[in-house]
Amino acid sequence: MIDTNKIRKMFRVYENNPNLVYLDSAASALKPDFVNQKVYEFNSFNGVNVHRGVYELSYEATNMYEDARQKVANFINSPFDSVVFTRGASDALNLVALSYGMQNIKPGDEIVTSLLEHHSSHMPWFNVAKKKGAIIKYIPLDENNMITVENFKSVLTDKTKVVAITYVSNVMGYVSPIKEIIRLAHKKNAIVSLDAAQAVPHMKIDVKDLDCDFLSFSGHKMCAPFGVGVLYGKKELLDIMEPVEFGGDMADTVMMDNQTYKDAPYKFETGTPMVSEVIGLGYACDFLNSIGIEEIERHENMLALEAKRRLSQIKGVTVYNMKATTGVIAFNIDGVHPHDAASVFDKNNVCIRAGHHCAQLITRHLGVLGTLRASFYMYNDLKDVDRLVESAKEAVEFFGQF
Ligand code: ALA
Repeated sequence: MIDTNKIRKMFRVYENNPNLVYLDSAASALKPDFVNQKVYEFNSFNGVNVHRGVYELSYEATNMYEDARQKVANFINSPFDSVVFTRGASDALNLVALSYGMQNIKPGDEIVTSLLEHHSSHMPWFNVAKKKGAIIKYIPLDENNMITVENFKSVLTDKTKVVAITYVSNVMGYVSPIKEIIRLAHKKNAIVSLDAAQAVPHMKIDVKDLDCDFLSFSGHKMCAPFGVGVLYGKKELLDIMEPVEFGGDMADTVMMDNQTYKDAPYKFETGTPMVSEVIGLGYACDFLNSIGIEEIERHENMLALEAKRRLSQIKGVTVYNMKATTGVIAFNIDGVHPHDAASVFDKNNVCIRAGHHCAQLITRHLGVLGTLRASFYMYNDLKDVDRLVESAKEAVEFFGQF
């Protein structure tokens, strides 16, 4: 059982904002003092560069940086050298498309994706398809706007080379049937790039069990600092991929007529990396492990189910994702622009996101300008649900007057 009173004490933002109802963790999680303190300690007592200095402090910084890689690898059950540090999930997803995609996609090849994608998952492949003359195919959504294995099969062909798909939709909170999709894609020799930005912070991820080829996520959604993300890639794929950025630290030999690179993952980490952020991400993994990722998942689902049950009973509120099993709620106040509606929540210190959530394909498909999104994490409790529901009622009453 999650003890939210105890957990909230670990997030100092609540000290200054005791009435804060933070329901925007799908955008960014709050940052625990434990992680902040570790980053502060590194910057204060060390703060030097990695992989370069031939002196004790630099060895120590390098060890801390590489320890973080091991912690991240353990967190997703990956080999150590399959973890590439990037600036975020978007950076990681772009790296796959710009490197693997630009090297391997040919005219007429098919790239399968979905209407549930975040722009960072879909747009890099749209760009590759445009440049290479490939074809983008969208998995049809079912009547609940979910991805199903049957619908995936309907677009999978012998020409499919890449499946670029979200693990958990950032708008709808739906979990895609990823394992079966990966199995089927591999039967066609297609590779699968997973956008797991909304999955890794909230559920147990095992890349070996999934057998995914690439998996991208960001640190700031899992209690780590901003500015760091991860690309997991199967080593045999990382090995054949060309870097897309060149320069410091990634080079092996540089001559006037030739240049070679370090092995993966280092050939993809050009220039001085985000040392303190990466170290923070390692400690964020420790933090999540200390609470228990399965506990976190159960807790969020419990809160979201209760909130959806109550929101859906309010006349004038539409909930779009009753079938979701994660901590994300997609809803609207009927006839009210989500940005207008969100102002009522904001007035009550209830932080939710409003708009298209960088996923215009699905908001267009829903036929709305945008949605309101509440998203839960381990520090939320049933009182937060009360405040969310009260604010929704207030918004209905307020806008009903016009
Ligand atoms: N991708 C983040 C979200 O869904 C920012 O809000």
